[in-house]
Amino acid sequence: MHQDRVRRSDLRDLVVSAEEAARLIKDGMTVGMSGFTRAGEAKAVPMALAERARTEPLKITLITGASLGNDLDKTLAEAHVLARRLPFQSDPALRKAINNGEVMFIDQHLSETVELLRSRQMGPVDIAVIEAVAITEEGGIVPTTSVGNSASFAILAEKVIVEINLSQPAALEGLHDIYIPTHRPAREPIPIVAPQSRIGLPFIPVDPGKIAAIVITTKLDSSSSVLPPDAETRAIAGHLTEFFLHEVKKGRLTERLQPLQAGIGTIANAVLHGLIDTPFHNLTMYSEVLQDSTFDLFDAGKLDFASGSSITLSAAKYQVVLPELPRYKQRLILRPQEISNHPEVVRRLGIIGINTALEFDIYGNINSTHVGGTHMMNGIGGSGDFARNAYLSVFVTKSTAKDGFVSSVVPMVSHVDHTEHDVDLVVTEIGLADLRGLAPRERARLIIANCAHPAYRDALSDYYRRALARGGHTPHVIEEALSWHAKLRECGSMQSEPASVSAQSLAG
Ligand code: COA
Repeated sequence: MHQDRVRRSDLRDLVVSAEEAARLIKDGMTVGMSGFTRAGEAKAVPMALAERARTEPLKITLITGASLGNDLDKTLAEAHVLARRLPFQSDPALRKAINNGEVMFIDQHLSETVELLRSRQMGPVDIAVIEAVAITEEGGIVPTTSVGNSASFAILAEKVIVEINLSQPAALEGLHDIYIPTHRPAREPIPIVAPQSRIGLPFIPVDPGKIAAIVITTKLDSSSSVLPPDAETRAIAGHLTEFFLHEVKKGRLTERLQPLQAGIGTIANAVLHGLIDTPFHNLTMYSEVLQDSTFDLFDAGKLDFASGSSITLSAAKYQVVLPELPRYKQRLILRPQEISNHPEVVRRLGIIGINTALEFDIYGNINSTHVGGTHMMNGIGGSGDFARNAYLSVFVTKSTAKDGFVSSVVPMVSHVDHTEHDVDLVVTEIGLADLRGLAPRERARLIIANCAHPAYRDALSDYYRRALARGGHTPHVIEEALSWHAKLRECGSMQSEPASVSAQSLAG
């Protein structure tokens, strides 16, 4: 059966077991693996590596597109294979190894990794391990449910291991658009002028002589852990819809809005899902991860086209979408993450970027990555690629976390991923603050009044009043600015009484 998938016949002799292929990876190497937010990761070779690490010293630098599915980051972290890991992850076991200092994690804008590799500011990549649906007659590699950084890994690495996954639908072929920017100093514009622009090849062009091993696999992608919309995320979506309607009335947006980007996770997925019951129509997406909401919007007749770098779905959605892929295919493109997230394209297309914060402060600075200012959650991912260059940069979060013991609106964020300069709107279930054109003092009043949970609003107002007395363009009581986080660390709460007002009643 794999004959249909390995169409270049002289490569068929390279089919070996995962263990044999993994032997090509030596201690100390840098390995570029496919995989982007649990989609399209190489599945068998990393498992074989983890197994090997039980009996021999084996530490590698692992670079991927983003997070891996099938518990691979967990398995590799627990086998102590990872010396360095970049550019993104979302696994609790790996998170622990990062936060205890065992794994050196480089938290990087997702559009930048291969730029750094290509220009030899990082690297080199010794071996690429790429999941594919097929190898073409020319020796081109056809990726599966994600492109991520796979194309550049395969082009830059000395050797390539291909995992042909027989369970990934052959209909994926034709979905991808592989374009690699030209080298500097003669870099040319990336010719994308609309989400549906096709500018590259449907496969990764590699020298077939570099393909060193082929492994046949059948394991499916693991499904996403995104939760369905709840009262709070519905309220967030409602505030944003109201804002968009207002912008349409003012003539700053049309009912087609602008190409949409939505970040990973439960909240961004729910916000996008909320667009189903609105007057907006003929929408497009130029995003990174296409989640359940993309297909819900297609099915609701709201979405015309979606461009991304991966398809990551819940178990139920996989069962519907994968067999129906030919039906969706003409309205989908998967691109290298360097292109799906490229600042040049994001600015040209005028994207509405909707990303999630862990917390934001009264001036609009955003922390998306570091719990309590020190402990890595997942990473910045593509949020910075989009936020800085978006037509409208939106950050959403629930107003409290951990059963109300944590306020997501704080006097000063404990870590900054997105500065106040890159943020146009902040939205919680309580309300929305439109920060465009406002000075810090104006922003603070609006954020406290519109976005903070009532249980924390008075304390924030009190802080701001005392900060004002000290003056400044961005007033702070500097010795107190992080006291909320210090208190959380000491007492497990940012206040004595946790916020007890139900979000449902607030969102009313
Ligand atoms: N302090 C401590 N923990 C917090 C918190 C805060 N201020 N705010 C949220 N959390 C915790 C939640 O309690 C939850 O914990 P749990 O997993 O133990 O239940 C976890 O963070 C996730 O929060 P949740 O409310 O479920 O939101 P989410 O699934 O939408 O994820 C981010 C939110 C910020 C973690 C996630 O969007 C992310 O990693 N973003 C950065 C990368 C990014 O934006 N990429 C976008 C381009 S694709």
